[in-house]
Amino acid sequence: MVRFKNELARADGVLIVTPEHDRAIPAALKNAIDWGARPWGKNSWTGKPAFITGTSPGAIGSALAQQHLRSVMTGLGMILLGGEAYVTFKPDLIDQHGNIADESTGKFLADFVNRFAHLVTRLAPVAQASAA
Ligand SMILES: Cc1cc2nc3c(=O)[nH]c(=O)nc-3n(C[C@H](O)[C@H](O)[C@H](O)COP(=O)(O)O)c2cc1C
Repeated sequence: MVRFKNELARADGVLIVTPEHDRAIPAALKNAIDWGARPWGKNSWTGKPAFITGTSPGAIGSALAQQHLRSVMTGLGMILLGGEAYVTFKPDLIDQHGNIADESTGKFLADFVNRFAHLVTRLAPVAQASAA
């Protein structure tokens, strides 16, 4: 838990990729988020830029899990990148090397990652000032 909190403190931003469990985020992810917010008064998530995406086999591609996650993260004071990145998982989505095989999905996600990198860069001076 201490290592997790230290890694969060050093991170310029947080990218969470989630599956969907019963139309919500998996219990293990919620547990990690809760630990990051404790002890009271030492919430490691506050002010962190964040980007959410995820995939699931259903047609809505983890949309409800992400909506749930968005609500939790906003409540903890994170600064979320706008937009929606829902990906329906199909067996050929990822190739044998772990890369995204579908070109349009790859471009769709790369655009989000570029926007997120831009957000993190813009907010880095603010984050450093509040950590000092
Ligand atoms: C308890 C549980 C609940 C799930 N609920 C959903 C769901 O609400 N929507 C969905 O699209 N997939 C759901 N899934 C499927 C997962 O998103 C995932 O595709 C599947 O578990 C395969 O991934 P895994 O091998 O990492 O478990 C669920 C899976 C589990 C184990």
